[in-house]
Amino acid sequence: MARVLVIHGGHAGGRTAKLVEAVRRGVLAGDEAAELRVLPALAAGLDDLLWCQGLLIGTPEHFGYMSGAVKDFFDRTFYPAQGRTEGLPYGLFVSAGNDGTGTILAVERIVTGYRWTAIAPPVRVVGEPTTEHLASCEELGATLAAGLSAGLF
Ligand SMILES: Cc1cc2nc3c(=O)[nH]c(=O)nc-3n(C[C@H](O)[C@H](O)[C@H](O)COP(=O)(O)O)c2cc1C
Repeated sequence: MARVLVIHGGHAGGRTAKLVEAVRRGVLAGDEAAELRVLPALAAGLDDLLWCQGLLIGTPEHFGYMSGAVKDFFDRTFYPAQGRTEGLPYGLFVSAGNDGTGTILAVERIVTGYRWTAIAPPVRVVGEPTTEHLASCEELGATLAAGLSAGLF
C-alpha cells in the first residue's frame, strides 16, 4: 500500500483546508488502497516524513511566503532528514489571496535542498477555490497515489 503524507498550513475550515479535502479524495480514489496521514504541518515531524513514500504540501501564502507552520516543518526536519529522503516524490498546492508565486519559489528552493522530486507542477489557487481548482487538487492526490502504486515514483 502506498504511504502518503499530506501536511498543511492554513486556518481550520479555511481555503487550504478545502484543497486538502480534495487532495485526500484524490489519494483515496484509486483502485489501489493507500495509507494516508493528513496532518497540520505543526503536528507533523521527522517520523511522518520518514514513514511516507510520497508527500503533498499544502499552504496558504502569507506575506509572499509559505505559512509559518510549513516553514517550521522544514526547519525541524531538514537536518535530521538529510540523506534519508532523497528522491521523495512530492506535490505542492498553494492557496493565495492574489498571488502565490513567492510561496511556490520558496518551497521549490527548499525542497531542492532535500532533493525531492516533483510529481506535477504546483497547483496555485487564487481566491476562493473553484470546482476546477478542487479537481486539480484531487488529480494531484490521485497522481501521487497511482504513481506510487504502479511503481512509477
Ligand atoms: C497574514 C496573512 C498574510 C497574507 N499574505 C498574502 C500574500 O502575501 N499574498 C497573497 O496572495 N495572499 C496573502 N494572504 C491571503 C491568503 O493567502 C489567502 O486568504 C488564503 O486563501 C488563506 O488560506 P486559508 O483560508 O487556508 O488560511 C495573506 C493572509 C494572511 C492571513
